[in-house]
Amino acid sequence: MKKRISIVTGAARGIGKSIAKQLVEDDCFVVVVDVDENVKESIMDYLGKGNSEYIKCDIQSQDEIKSLFKEVIEKFGKIDILVNNAGVIKDNMIWKMPKRDFDFVVDVNLKGTWMMCREAAIIMRDQKFGKIVNISSRAWLGNNRGQSNYTASKAGIVGLTRVLALELGKYNVNVNAVAPGLIDTPLTQSLSEEVMQQLISAQPTKKLGKPEDIANVISFLVSGKSDFITGQIIHVDGGRSIGSTIF
Ligand SMILES: NC(=O)c1ccc[n+]([C@@H]2O[C@H](COP(=O)([O-])OP(=O)(O)OC[C@H]3O[C@@H](n4cnc5c(N)ncnc54)[C@H](O)[C@@H]3O)[C@@H](O)[C@H]2O)c1
Repeated sequence: MKKRISIVTGAARGIGKSIAKQLVEDDCFVVVVDVDENVKESIMDYLGKGNSEYIKCDIQSQDEIKSLFKEVIEKFGKIDILVNNAGVIKDNMIWKMPKRDFDFVVDVNLKGTWMMCREAAIIMRDQKFGKIVNISSRAWLGNNRGQSNYTASKAGIVGLTRVLALELGKYNVNVNAVAPGLIDTPLTQSLSEEVMQQLISAQPTKKLGKPEDIANVISFLVSGKSDFITGQIIHVDGGRSIGSTIF
């Protein structure tokens, strides 16, 4: 297939769905990967006939990840782009957080991303081309109470991204991360109105981001326009990562 073959995890909704749409507009074929099977038909309709394929995969499972990559290579013979977007939260103060909630968030966000990167790295190293983008979070900087598990997982993604950029650079594979701030998705729609307003007011731009704000940056990072950029963490957060504001 002439189109660039892209895998996007967590593409059933939210930021991942928007990334998948943008990649289709960029003339990529998108393999939609998610645990949520209920949206299989609707997401493929949304992306347009012949532009995508849905493959169910829980990124906590090494076996499911291995069979996902096997299937993609058997069908398409290559993988040009991997966007590791799937992620979960399970917030609480550390004294109220059971170990299973730490394990769950780290298993999906960090170990899942690592396992996806490992399979892609083997293929992209051998084909001497590839673009990997990992979705971290502005929270990796460590200024959200109640997110010790999430922050550890997203900071882990930052370290992982930098090391993989070192390991894969000479094979013409770029590895970068995007760190979103507050974006309007089903994940954030579960927060209370009061918390949302506090978070919005902490952003210098005083507004909520849209999934497309992230998709636009991904479009650039997987294109030839970013060939000299690797190992970078791009904050797309309305300026929140600058730090707290007094005025
Ligand atoms: N929304 C925000 O404000 C925000 C901010 C910073 C970072 N992020 C990150 O962006 C990414 C997407 O966030 P979102 O807001 O769109 O979330 P979302 O909850 O709306 O969507 C996440 C998707 O990932 C899928 N998923 C969850 N666990 C999975 C698993 N084990 N295997 C495969 N798929 C799985 C879900 O089914 C869902 O479709 C996440 O990594 C999140 O941490 C989001």
